[in-house]
Amino acid sequence: AATKQYQFDIQVKNVSRLCHAKPIVTVNGRFPGPTIYVREGDRVLVNVTNHAKYNMSIHWHGLKQYRNGWADGPAYITQCPIQTGSSYTYDFNVTGQRGTLWWHAHILWLRATVYGAIVIMPKQGTPFPFPQPYGETEIILGEWWNVDVEEVVKKGNNMGLPPNTSDAHTINGKPGPLFPCSEKHTFAMEVEQGKTYLLRIINAALNDELFFAIAGHNLTVVEVDAVYTKPFTTQSILIAPGQTTNVLVQAYQAPGRYFMAARPFMDVPLAVDNKTATAILQYRGIPNTVLPLLAQLPASNDSAFALSYNKKLRSLNSPRFPANVPLKVDRKLFYTVGFGKDSCPTCVNGTRLVASLNNISFEMPHIGLLQAHYFNIKGVFRTDFPDRPPTPFNYTGAPLTASLGTLTGTRLSKIAFNSTVELVLQDTNLLTVESHPFHLHGYNFFVVGTDIGNFNPSKDPAKFNLVDPVERNTVGVPTGGWTAIRFRADNPGVWFMHCHLELHTGWGLKTAFVVEDGPGSDQTVLPPPKDLPPC
Ligand code: C2O
Repeated sequence: AATKQYQFDIQVKNVSRLCHAKPIVTVNGRFPGPTIYVREGDRVLVNVTNHAKYNMSIHWHGLKQYRNGWADGPAYITQCPIQTGSSYTYDFNVTGQRGTLWWHAHILWLRATVYGAIVIMPKQGTPFPFPQPYGETEIILGEWWNVDVEEVVKKGNNMGLPPNTSDAHTINGKPGPLFPCSEKHTFAMEVEQGKTYLLRIINAALNDELFFAIAGHNLTVVEVDAVYTKPFTTQSILIAPGQTTNVLVQAYQAPGRYFMAARPFMDVPLAVDNKTATAILQYRGIPNTVLPLLAQLPASNDSAFALSYNKKLRSLNSPRFPANVPLKVDRKLFYTVGFGKDSCPTCVNGTRLVASLNNISFEMPHIGLLQAHYFNIKGVFRTDFPDRPPTPFNYTGAPLTASLGTLTGTRLSKIAFNSTVELVLQDTNLLTVESHPFHLHGYNFFVVGTDIGNFNPSKDPAKFNLVDPVERNTVGVPTGGWTAIRFRADNPGVWFMHCHLELHTGWGLKTAFVVEDGPGSDQTVLPPPKDLPPC
């Protein structure tokens, strides 16, 4: 194993897209930021120096950070921010994981422009469980906003109203030729006819689940969230913010130019967003004057595609990569996911929109929760987050049958070391049903079940897949439906769990687990590094 060192300078840079130039926050002046290349087993040191006027923190999305929440990154959860003029070195080992993950700013909405890929190669001499691709590339899907995103956030929070949507979707930071002034901002991937390529697709968008397809080329899904899957072939993939998907693409068509395309999946009537980012799959030797072929994507509200696509995802579950699904559950949790109203004297109408789990909207603390836990600082958080909603109701039935009243607080759930946890996330009709991609820090989990409607505790568990469920770190709770996950709580620390739609996170759709130390001296949270940013 090697030690890989990176220097991340947080700098503001002028970037132009869609006929406008504006200053954006970047790493090393690059957008998207640099890719981290490592091998399974490596130690990684990333020194982050903040030259921008915003506070910063970086999250290594999907890396488990065993006993080492200090390197996880979410601001005020595992660390205080890196202030202007300061540095912090994220120091972590990449153990037991290989595949595609990503990193992003984890404070306010700064991840709008501060993100990049993490590529973890398998150990030397260990082949992929699929044919070795001839070449590979990262495909990072994102959003472009013409306005200053931090300004949008401030407005949204004061009025309790959603901010406007972005102005474009992007592929590797580029919207593609369907947008104004974007001909030169088009990503192209060159391929040779007959060869197979690995695409490492990442959804870094702030608020949109996305479909992705390539005209005339099928995609074979082989991995999600850095865990191998049973390969299956599809015309389009669906990918939620936070998720990664590796696909194999065979360049078997007549040499030409083919559009890659990404467009939102939205199955609520609230908003229709048809902005399509495009890039080009370009066969070697074909001139740029050849018009590319259009890509077919599912209709933006195609929830049947979404449900069936997600059900096709299965762990590889081979002898070398077994799926160790917890069969027996020590702790059962049931969280409702929804919106509500909170009194807010300074807001229009005296109330503001909030989002909640079990009717609790999460309030950000002012010092890191991991510090509070490690140093036993009282009064920062409570560990009385309810295991079940206060009053059960017809979660997805209409009309609304529950109150919108929401409590706020920094309330966490305490989990015993090494216990097995089952969490059912139930979408609700509180204000509106909507799908939510939930991300858990510090862990992967198995997605043992998902369906539309209300979770039925006496019937649905019998249908759980306990053999080869997909293992991942971010999962969609379907619109008007539920998702059940299981994991073994073997990583002590404080681990954030939140909806990966920034809009919803900002409204409080988040909580954290305090996983207690184990009895062994190698089962406790490590001591904090000396340069941990002060609060
Ligand atoms: Cu990718 Cu807590 O986030």
